[in-house]
Formats: sequence, structure tokens, C-alpha cells
Amino acid sequence: MNSTAYEQRRSQIEHYFDRTAAEAWARLTSNEPVGRIRATVRAGREQMRNTLLSWLPQDMRGMRLLDAGCGTGALALQAALRGADVVAIDLSPTLVALAAERMAAEHPHLPGSVQFTSGDMLSPALGEFDHVVCMDSLIHYDTEHIAQAVATLATRTRGSVLLTYAPRTPLLALMHSVGRLFPRSDRSPALSPVDTGALGRALAAQTALQGWQAGRTQRIAQGFYTSQAWEWSRA
Ligand SMILES: C[S@@+](CC[C@H](N)C(=O)[O-])C[C@H]1O[C@@H](n2cnc3c(N)ncnc32)[C@H](O)[C@@H]1O
Repeated sequence: MNSTAYEQRRSQIEHYFDRTAAEAWARLTSNEPVGRIRATVRAGREQMRNTLLSWLPQDMRGMRLLDAGCGTGALALQAALRGADVVAIDLSPTLVALAAERMAAEHPHLPGSVQFTSGDMLSPALGEFDHVVCMDSLIHYDTEHIAQAVATLATRTRGSVLLTYAPRTPLLALMHSVGRLFPRSDRSPALSPVDTGALGRALAAQTALQGWQAGRTQRIAQGFYTSQAWEWSRA
């Protein structure tokens, strides 16, 4: 994808996750206690991660997985524990460094492997994969950019692309207008709540997704966390 609008959005997201919110993300994804609101986000995210992992094979030995927008690397770790060879990429070098540091300290020996790198998940240099997971890494992009990103990833994927998006719900709209998820100083670039029907049509219109089909879908709504998982795989 080579559009200026995409690049502008990507650069805002990179700035946010690499600088403004890096500390908040480090804490949210650690075992340290957090406040009541963030505890609901943490619990929701864990449920989402488990849902996505349940859609991947239990035995991933010999498989390549792309953790696209890996943040601090929790999903990459679980896939490597199943034997996968994971490429974990994120726009934020700060989060990638933290992810690598945590993994080396807590899991120096894994059945699989994790190669951490910083940059754009859409880079063709990453190679081909059996499965790709975009957990909450597309939630700041608009419907068209999400569809184009999934299509781009699909051209390099043999099995499935699992994505999540922020579903357009009245409650989510209200919560984000109130904006209490993070303090004002580290509030994220606006989420892009997405209409499921519109996203389905945008995905179906992608030439690269001809021969692909929509599979399981699951909404996780826990306090201040709402996200919808969707499985796309080769027919
Ligand atoms: C909400 S966080 C989720 C992180 C991780 N997937 C998790 O669930 O813990 C979204 C992440 O996606 C990353 N991201 C967004 N767009 C990206 C892109 N085009 N390429 C790589 N990473 C991206 C951000 O830098 C951020 O760390």
C-alpha cells in the first residue's frame, strides 16, 4: 500500500506508541497492578489473545507466523511456545526492544523462535507466512486501509489472516468521546470504529482476497475494552 493518507496515519501511530504511550503500554502489558479501568482493558486483551490463539493450530512446529503489530510480544511468545517460527514486527522500536528484553529474560529457551523487528507490517521483505495475526494493530486505520492491509498480507499467507477491529457500537462511541481510557497526555490517535458490513464489503472487493473466505468472528467486550476478531482464510 503506498498512499499518503496511510503513511500519515502510520506515522501518527508510530509516534504515539513509540513515545507518548510507550510507558503506559509497558505497564499495561506487565504483571504490575493497574487501575480499575485499565484492569478491564488488560482482562479483555487477554481474552482476545486467547481467542485468536484458539483459532491457530495447537502444534505450530515448522510454521511461520507473522505477529503484525506485536507491541510487547505476548502473542508472539505463545505462538513460539507452540513451536512456531515467529516474525514479530511493530512500528515502535521502543516496544520491540522491550518485547525482546522480556522474552530473553523470561523465556530464554523456546520450542520455536521469535525474530523481533521494527518497521511496517506490510513490508514484503518479511517473506511468506502460514498465518498472520493483527491483534488490535489495525484499529486506528479506516475501513479501506484495513481492507487493503489484510489483502496485502493475504498475498503472502498460505493459511489464515486473523484481524481485530473496533466494531462501531453506540457504547464504544460514547466511551471514546468521554476518552477516559488513557490520561489526556497519552491518549491514543482516535480509534476508527468500523461497521462490520462495510468492512466485509471492502474485504470482499479486494482482488487479492478472491479465493479467500470469512470464517469465525468473536466480539470481546470487557469494561473499557471492545474489539472484534475475524478470521479470513484460503477457501
Ligand atoms: C493496540 S497495540 C497492540 C499490540 C499487540 N498486538 C497486542 O495486542 O498487545 C497496536 C500496535 O500496532 C502497531 N502498529 C500499527 N500499525 C502498524 C504497522 N503498519 N506496522 C507495524 N506495526 C503497527 C503499533 O505500533 C502498536 O504497537
